[in-house]
Amino acid sequence: KMKLREAIFSANNLASKFYNYLLLNNDIASKAKEYLNDRGFNEEDIKKFNLGYAPDSWRGLYNFLSDKGFNQEVLIKSGLVVAGKNNSYYDRFRDRVIFPIYNVRSEVIGFGGRVIDPEDFPKYLNSPESPVFSKKKLLYGLNISKEGIQDKNEAVIVEGYTDVLTAHKFGLTNFVASLGTALTREQANLLKRYCDKVYIAYDADTAGDKATLRGLEILRQAGLDVAIIELPQDLDPDDYIKNKGSDAFIELESKAPDLIEYRIDLIMEKYQDQSANSRLKAAQAGVDFLATIKDELTQDAYAKVLAEKTEIGYEEIKNKMQKVKKEKK
Ligand code: UTP
Ligand code: MN
Ligand code: MN
Ligand code: MN
Ligand code: MN
Repeated sequence: KMKLREAIFSANNLASKFYNYLLLNNDIASKAKEYLNDRGFNEEDIKKFNLGYAPDSWRGLYNFLSDKGFNQEVLIKSGLVVAGKNNSYYDRFRDRVIFPIYNVRSEVIGFGGRVIDPEDFPKYLNSPESPVFSKKKLLYGLNISKEGIQDKNEAVIVEGYTDVLTAHKFGLTNFVASLGTALTREQANLLKRYCDKVYIAYDADTAGDKATLRGLEILRQAGLDVAIIELPQDLDPDDYIKNKGSDAFIELESKAPDLIEYRIDLIMEKYQDQSANSRLKAAQAGVDFLATIKDELTQDAYAKVLAEKTEIGYEEIKNKMQKVKKEKK
């Protein structure tokens, strides 16, 4: 008898093939295929990421895997099948585009399923936690981006599946997704095994901005150098790279502020009302922040940055800094 984990890996692997076969070969997937094509993903992308289509049926996958000899315990623990009332069973993923999720050894550990009709909810349905799937410990795309990350000693961390797909399509091979905006310590530590520097490139919206502030602290604590890529408002990396190309993204990367400069930028944004007073207020808020930096050399280096950005003299910034330090004592 196979061990449970092995059996789940095996069921997941077969399920990914089932979904992928339907997407590539069956007319019932024509809507899904058209949807992907409209987003710029062709057959090559589908094959590279083993994308699939889960049919609009209650037991399509259940019947397929049962015929292959998988028992109900395995199907339910894998998350592929849901137990209903009165010993009934049904497929978790129905009428969705399927993104298999791999671990770093390229085993299928779970799935994300995207709606095709924008009215449907939730936009993405993911596998539940299972003996092989722990969402807080995985980085989508690490299996395929591992070499790119090691070669550059840098990774780009994004929110979603399609951000990783598009990056690869455009030759940017060091992207991984945290699958949402809740970056965890486990994910940061996992990344640290492969590189020393990370760019956060979350969506340019309120959720993405909040998650960036939280994420950069977690990445820093994992010992990673962090820089922040700021996209034009309301775009994500998928949108941006498709519209502007990979060179434009690399350009953003080269201008990406590190975490201290990013914080100064946020302060500058906050006081951006052009009033006579605002540069002074920004300078004061900046000084208050810089005063929290323990290392004196770092603090001084960023005092210069702050002086440039606020156009308030370096000496003036230093004076303000002394004042704050005295008050603290
Ligand atoms: P986004 O809302 O930014 O989606 O969520 P996206 O990746 O840009 O997706 P597209 O371009 O509309 O297809 C970022 C990530 O958060 C997770 C998914 O992993 C998604 O890729 N998410 C989002 C969910 O798990 N469930 C949801 O309902 C929404
Ligand atoms: Mn988002
Ligand atoms: Mn922003
Ligand atoms: Mn998107
Ligand atoms: Mn997005």
